[in-house]
Amino acid sequence: MGRFDNRVVIVTGAGSGIGSATARMFAQEGAAVVAADIRAETVQSLAAELQREYGRALAVTVDVTDEDAVRALTDRAAAEFGRLDILVNNAGIGEQPVPIEERSAADWNRVINTNLTSAFYGIKHAARVMKSQKRPGVIVNVSSILGLVGFNGAPAYTAAKHGMLGLTKAAALELAPAGIRVVAISPAFIKTPLITGYEEAVLPLHPLGR
Ligand SMILES: NC(=O)c1ccc[n+]([C@@H]2O[C@H](COP(=O)([O-])OP(=O)(O)OC[C@H]3O[C@@H](n4cnc5c(N)ncnc54)[C@H](O)[C@@H]3O)[C@@H](O)[C@H]2O)c1
Repeated sequence: MGRFDNRVVIVTGAGSGIGSATARMFAQEGAAVVAADIRAETVQSLAAELQREYGRALAVTVDVTDEDAVRALTDRAAAEFGRLDILVNNAGIGEQPVPIEERSAADWNRVINTNLTSAFYGIKHAARVMKSQKRPGVIVNVSSILGLVGFNGAPAYTAAKHGMLGLTKAAALELAPAGIRVVAISPAFIKTPLITGYEEAVLPLHPLGR
């Protein structure tokens, strides 16, 4: 018996790092996992591995900044596996440390759209599906330690991750009566491709040194 037997879980950004590890853990605990990422090949190989080892998994190629694609993702999960119980809004990107007065609006919008607006799309369409099936559900937003403190050189990322906590609180209040819990996690730095080049800078920020 796994803790998530019979549950259906979507993990965005499942092609790498935290999302990939999260998808694996849900599968190990019995869930049917929909592994979603903008990079098709990464989730196809992950879903194939999860299918082989645990049974039910599906890869979906999605750009989480595209609302129609997120709508299709939530509908596909429910159609394929008969229900949707959990969405993990994990997909995200980092930011180059460009001086703020030289930062382009396009870069700002890309980081905000990928790290924050995507979570709004995810909450909106997961809530729609969860309400229609009249079952409780959980939406997990992956914020960051940078949702709680500032970080020199990452204004858009920091703003997006702070915004994600506000979005989580407001959506949690609105969706609670429907039995949908909206929660956030704020990891410290985790050694994934996202922090390549920053390891030396961020390691001393961790009291345990890891
Ligand atoms: N690594 C850290 O130190 C750290 C700390 C706190 C929070 N986080 C957050 O955790 C989440 C995962 O980060 P990670 O470290 O595993 O990064 P990662 O770069 O290893 O993985 C991110 C994944 O998201 C996917 N992705 C990017 N843009 C996308 C889009 N538009 N549509 C769909 N998929 C997209 C990428 O292809 C990649 O597979 C992110 O939201 C990140 O901000 C990371």
